Amino acid sequence: MASRLSLSPITDLPLSRKAFTTRSRALPLCPLLPLNSPYLRYSIKREVSQRSRPNAVSEQVVESVTSDSNQDSQSADSPPSSSKLVLVVGGTGGVGQLVVASLLNRNIKSRLLLRNPEKATALFGEQDEEKLQVMQADTRNPQDLDPSIFEDVTHVICCTGTTAFPSRRWDGDNTPERVDWEGVRNLVSALPASLKRIVLVSSVGVTKFNEIPWSIMNLFGVLKYKKMGEDFVRNSGLPFTIIRPGRLTDGPYTSYDLNTLLQATAGERRAVVIGQGDKLVGEVSRLVVAEACVQALDIDFTEGQTYEINSVKGEGPGSDPQKWEELFRAAQKPVPL
Ligand SMILES: NC(=O)c1ccc[n+]([C@@H]2O[C@H](COP(=O)([O-])OP(=O)(O)OC[C@H]3O[C@@H](n4cnc5c(N)ncnc54)[C@H](OP(=O)(O)O)[C@@H]3O)[C@@H](O)[C@H]2O)c1
Repeated sequence: MASRLSLSPITDLPLSRKAFTTRSRALPLCPLLPLNSPYLRYSIKREVSQRSRPNAVSEQVVESVTSDSNQDSQSADSPPSSSKLVLVVGGTGGVGQLVVASLLNRNIKSRLLLRNPEKATALFGEQDEEKLQVMQADTRNPQDLDPSIFEDVTHVICCTGTTAFPSRRWDGDNTPERVDWEGVRNLVSALPASLKRIVLVSSVGVTKFNEIPWSIMNLFGVLKYKKMGEDFVRNSGLPFTIIRPGRLTDGPYTSYDLNTLLQATAGERRAVVIGQGDKLVGEVSRLVVAEACVQALDIDFTEGQTYEINSVKGEGPGSDPQKWEELFRAAQKPVPL
């Protein structure tokens, strides 16, 4: 059953009191490390600016909610929370960047798994290694997924993907079959059994890839391979949540810095619709998808569940955990007879 809740704007990302800048774009350690290392790791030092931002209202949101993720954000000026280390896979992508920005602002430690680690500094500026670590891996290559990558990781958010139709993003055989199926399978196979949650970003329509109009989108197999990736997650025995977005809007913010990402808006489409059973059809802001992934980490009953998500005109839940919990819960309610 689909649920809808129209509340505060999604633009209320929980900004910390500090803004990040990208004044220094140096990559101090990358060139010193072996380029073929599967777990290239470097720190991104954070620079702090006291610049005020237009959406400072989000600080009120941060102070008014009580979930674990919010406890993390309340301590944004202190060392990162030790309770979570979130591995973000696909953190340079449209949704992935917003996931990383959201984690940084909640003061949740994250580790990025990137094909090209140099993109991290360009996108997120210099960050403290205590808050953001970067490792190199291509999910198509199981040998890249060294156990050291997953050391101390408590949660995973996987937002990898490629285009549904042939494009330059397929260069080097980076096709839906290789990324959405083989890449997800390789990643999940490498994850430790101690993991508390993996959130996989998939797509609406994956259960209907043989039906018009989904079969058109699936001409090169994207929906079929995403479903195979989903099923592998489901059968892995790991605690999972699958988020299936409708057509993505806003972004991707592929060349912006963190400040820009945090100021990105979902326009008028801030109200969130969550459903189950692959019945939703529509669009969703990447901001909404990223927030749903981060929120799901802390909502126990989302474990083992698959949700479709859209956003529509109206006010939304912003970053309020209670409102997100209501949205997810309503989607799971049995349809009354
Ligand atoms: N576009 C839509 O309308 C739509 C609708 C429903 C669902 N989705 C799905 O939603 C998710 C997020 O979409 P998006 O548009 O935000 O994503 P995106 O901008 O296309 O980003 C994809 C991410 O995956 C990474 N990636 C690709 N191949 C990889 C590989 N072999 N190894 C490691 N990382 C790899 C990319 O890294 P690089 O920087 O290295 O390329 C990038 O960070 C995707 O799964 C997408 O398929 C999209």
